[in-house]
Amino acid sequence: MSILKELENSLKTIIKNAGYDEESIALEPSNRRDLGEYQLNDAMQLVKTYHKNPREIAEDIVKELSKDERFTHINIAGPGFINFSLSNEYTYSFLNKINEDVYNNIDKKAPKKIIIDYGGANVSKALHVGHLRSANIGEALKRLAKLLGYDALGDAHLGDFGRPLGLVIKEIKEEYPNLAYFDPNYEGDYSEIDLPITNEDLERIYPLASNKSKEDEAYLEDARDITMKFQSKEKGYFELWKKIVDISKEDIKKTYDSLNTNFEIWNGESDEMEFFNELYKIYEEKGLITESEGAKVIEVATEDDNSPMPPLMMVKSNGTMSYDSTDLAAILERRVNFNPDEIWYVVDGRQSLHFEQVFRAARKGMDKMENHLRQEMVE
Ligand code: ARG
Repeated sequence: MSILKELENSLKTIIKNAGYDEESIALEPSNRRDLGEYQLNDAMQLVKTYHKNPREIAEDIVKELSKDERFTHINIAGPGFINFSLSNEYTYSFLNKINEDVYNNIDKKAPKKIIIDYGGANVSKALHVGHLRSANIGEALKRLAKLLGYDALGDAHLGDFGRPLGLVIKEIKEEYPNLAYFDPNYEGDYSEIDLPITNEDLERIYPLASNKSKEDEAYLEDARDITMKFQSKEKGYFELWKKIVDISKEDIKKTYDSLNTNFEIWNGESDEMEFFNELYKIYEEKGLITESEGAKVIEVATEDDNSPMPPLMMVKSNGTMSYDSTDLAAILERRVNFNPDEIWYVVDGRQSLHFEQVFRAARKGMDKMENHLRQEMVE
């Protein structure tokens, strides 16, 4: 039982011994620390039931409280607020109990399953400080949730399906144009191809490719085209993409390990996108997919919006899948594979518009998810 619960139970008995019946104890940390560590406000509440002066009630309670050695510095402030502190002996005994077993200070909650999405590192790109922040806060939340008795599962949700990978493959193609991956007539086993690329190479390649794409429209166009190719599992490109993901994932795992961050689920956006066709069908059948400037979108704006709410992008006009759809697909995938009661997101606050769009779309199309979404934004 938690310390607070034990204290509240004792106080209930004390108030009863003073001659009053109280359902719920109104105990709070005192905001007048000079008067005591805690403030007990029950005398004020009991006025309604017993029609007595609150100070009189407070005096009755204090008389009983004083008999108990655990409570010190007992006094009444204002019309009937009781202040008190805990004796050192009592505090020490609590601390020793927690030291023996942390569960001595925990009230377990009714079980529920929660998926916590707090990874988000991107394949072939170095982790940045935002990823470290989500990792640490998310891991702490998950451990707390587990202590409370929840079935909490961490999902790494790696960024492995977007244009950065298209850029990386474009640059590899520039540097090694003769790799068998790029030969449409290759009939051999892709696992036998010796790819001369390490994780260090990837960390060099991505920024290089990203810079080139900003200056060279044709280069960017090729990267987009390659993105579409691996997303649609085109022979060669898909296998190369997979290989790069494997190399990078191994390194990302080491980094998360060194942070003491442990994910139960090592999905990436690409795993979620295995559910894309099913997802698309659900929305299409409900007539929720519309076309906008060549893209397939889901409208999520409402009349009450007082700032612009762009539609959720399912498929971009160039045929590639969008970041929006990966998160919508993730909700469906998690629901099918894990059926969680809640999903918590520990992500950068700058993604709040993205998640607002995703959650609105989820509520529109996957009605049963209505109560399963919770947004934990880390500013
Ligand atoms: N990969 C994304 C990024 O680096 C973060 C992913 C956050 N989580 C999510 N479910 N979208 O910006």
